[in-house]
Amino acid sequence: MSPATHGAFLFLQATGVDRRASAIRALYSVAVRLRIISVATAIVAAASSPAWSSGSAVSSAVQQAGQQYYIEYCASCHGTDGRGAGPVAAALTIKPPDLSKMAARRNGQYPFDELASYIDGRKAVAAHGSREMPVWGERFADESPDDPQQERIIHGKVLMLLVYLESIQR
Ligand code: HEC
Repeated sequence: MSPATHGAFLFLQATGVDRRASAIRALYSVAVRLRIISVATAIVAAASSPAWSSGSAVSSAVQQAGQQYYIEYCASCHGTDGRGAGPVAAALTIKPPDLSKMAARRNGQYPFDELASYIDGRKAVAAHGSREMPVWGERFADESPDDPQQERIIHGKVLMLLVYLESIQR
């Protein structure tokens, strides 16, 4: 697994120019909409520097923003440390999984695409019916109902969360 501090940048490098550009646009849109100045500034700075040399600055800004978002949306079930002991966990029939062991459960792999589509949940729910975890793709859509960038913002929020979660893998 890649060192967490470089997670976002490696991901952006590895997924090819088109997908990298789309991930950057998604993160930028969400940063602007949520007024996360640190992320927007880091992206602008990185984009204008040769060979994305300040990619790790993007990574750490995104990671911090993702952590705040995690605390707001996910900690109630998965716990502030991600290990599954949030206050709401006891009320669920399925225990929330330890999110700091996602890579450990997958032989050290941290598959961004698979995890993103799981968190989003809209496709999965259409195929398999209900689940205990909220369908975040719908929740995030409700947060920016009339925005023409809606899909991009949803994608950016999920990416932000995944960059943070990658940093807590153990
Ligand atoms: C209401 C409680 C609840 C909240 C809030 C919640 N989750 Fe979950 N999460 C679960 C449960 C329960 C599961 C196990 C699968 C299921 O039944 O839904 C799960 C599973 C997951 C998984 C799959 C883990 C794996 O290794 O496959 C991920 C990733 C995840 N949650 C991320 C998040 C993120 C990110 C947030 C915040 C945006 C979040 N969860 C908020 C309850 C919750």
